[in-house]
Order: sequence, then C-alpha cells, then structure tokens
Amino acid sequence: MALISSAILAGLLSMLAVNFANPTTTSNGSDEPTSPTPWPLQFHSQLYVNLTNTGKLQIDDLWYDWPRGRNLNLLQSQLGDRLYDVEWNNKTSFLFTKGENATCRVLTFPVGLLRPDWLDGATYLGRAWTGGFECHLWTKVDFVWYYEEVATGRPVRWDFFNGMTMHVMTFEVGAVLDDSEWQAPEYCFTENVLNDNAEIIEEEIQDMPKEIESVNALDYLHFRKFFRKFSSM
Ligand SMILES: *[C@@H]1O[C@H](CO)[C@@H](O)[C@H](O)[C@H]1NC(C)=O
Ligand SMILES: *[C@@H]1O[C@H](CO)[C@@H](O)[C@H](O)[C@H]1NC(C)=O
Ligand SMILES: *[C@@H]1O[C@H](CO)[C@@H](O)[C@H](O)[C@H]1NC(C)=O
Ligand SMILES: *[C@@H]1O[C@H](CO)[C@@H](O)[C@H](O)[C@H]1NC(C)=O
Repeated sequence: MALISSAILAGLLSMLAVNFANPTTTSNGSDEPTSPTPWPLQFHSQLYVNLTNTGKLQIDDLWYDWPRGRNLNLLQSQLGDRLYDVEWNNKTSFLFTKGENATCRVLTFPVGLLRPDWLDGATYLGRAWTGGFECHLWTKVDFVWYYEEVATGRPVRWDFFNGMTMHVMTFEVGAVLDDSEWQAPEYCFTENVLNDNAEIIEEEIQDMPKEIESVNALDYLHFRKFFRKFSSM
C-alpha cells in the first residue's frame, strides 16, 4: 500500500518535473542573488522578438553603447520593414527606414538611455528555466521580467507586461557599431519629416504608471511606440 502510494507519488513528481521544465515555472533557489548583473557598457545582441499580442515576429539587433551615449535597435519585422531606432542620451531618437518610401520620425523623450544598472531594485522571483538555460528571474514594477543565466550572469530573455518576449540569441560584450551606422539620414533633417511626437509623448506620459516613469520610461515609451507601429501593419 505504502509502496503503491509512493509509486503514484513518484509518478506525480515526474509529471511535475516535466512541468518544472516549462519556461514559466519558477522555484526558490537557495543562494539568492541581491540584484541582476549590470549590463556591460558596450555590447551587441541579436534578439528574437515575439510580439505575442499580434503574433508578429522581429529580429532586433541591439547595439548598446553607454560610453558614447547611444543605443540602436535595428528592427527587422518578418518579411517587412527594417526600422532603425537610434537613441541618443540627449533624449533625441531617430526612427527611420531606408530605401524607396523611406521615412523618418524624430522623437524627444523625457529620459535618456537605459543605465547599465537599470534593473537595480528589481524583485527576485527565484530560478526559472527558459530556452534550456537555468536562470535567475527578476521583475521590476510589473513591467519587465528578466531572465539571467545562473552560470554566467548573461541575459537570456526578457518579457514585457503585455506579453512581448525577447530572446537573447547572441551577446557580444564589447562589440561597437561603426560610427557611420549611427548617422540619421538627411531626410530626417528636412521640413517634410513627420515629427508627430510632442502630443503623442505627452499623452503617453499621462497614462504611464508613475512608478514606471522613474524606472524605465524609455522602454515603456518604446514599447508603446513599436506596438502602435507594428500592430497597424
Ligand atoms: C509567440 O508567442 C505565442 C504566445 O506565447 C506563442 O503561442 C507562439 O507560438 C510564439 N510564436 C513563435 C514563432 O515563437
Ligand atoms: C542629440 O544628439 C544627436 C547626435 O549627436 C543630434 O543629432 C541631435 O540633434 C541632438 N539633440 C539635441 C536636442 O541636441
Ligand atoms: C513605395 O510606395 C509606392 C506607392 O505607394 C508603392 O507602389 C511601392 O511598392 C512602395 N515601395 C516599397 C519598396 O515599399
Ligand atoms: C526563498 O526562500 C528563502 C528561505 O525560505 C526565503 O527567505 C526567501 O524569501 C525566498 N525568496 C523568494 C524570492 O521567495
């Protein structure tokens, strides 16, 4: 009898073990880190992005360059636009496409780049597996969920509150993109550029939760901006 019970229990446990391999399942590891590893000052990362809400996919080439005060998201939507999002620490961003029907938008943000320690103060949620990597999982103001590999401290994935997931495919510490790639094209500086943001940003700040503004306004606004763009496609 006891033997049968423990056999059933073992069976249940192995079923649970299968569930524990699910990316969204967490457990409380014993050696709890105090905060996520800060981002390296310069890196290049290719991110596989699932917008989830719309079912759309993107590849995001992220070039983070803190010492030079700049960040580029080069967003390739599936069989679609290739969008450059060049952000400067002086709060100006240039969003442009190239080629025929090229467009540009110049945006002014209330904040500059994400700081390398932008995840300081995040809440630790324990360990979780994603993509076959054992990770520490953190959340910050219920806005972002951040997976960092236990063994190396590398980011593996981050998710936004709306379900958008970003999977880190490459992570090249110290990689720097050539200066010429950061230059906004001349049509960003001509009069007929669609510079439609004063009102839009105003509006977004108003309905942005207060906690987020101090923490991660940039990503929040970017998320809103991209979501609007890609959900209309
Ligand atoms: C994107 O995410 C949704 C929701 O998790 C999932 O159903 C879908 O399979 C994902 N698509 C790809 C291509 O990963
Ligand atoms: C911010 O820096 C970029 C790149 O140097 C420049 O093109 C842009 O005009 C600057 N914005 C402001 C408001 O100074
Ligand atoms: C550019 O716009 C024209 C007119 O709308 C369209 O016919 C053409 O296919 C567009 N080109 C590209 C590369 O999207
Ligand atoms: C993990 O477990 C330890 C010991 O029970 C507890 O002190 C800690 O608060 C837990 N951490 C989380 C994130 O739940």
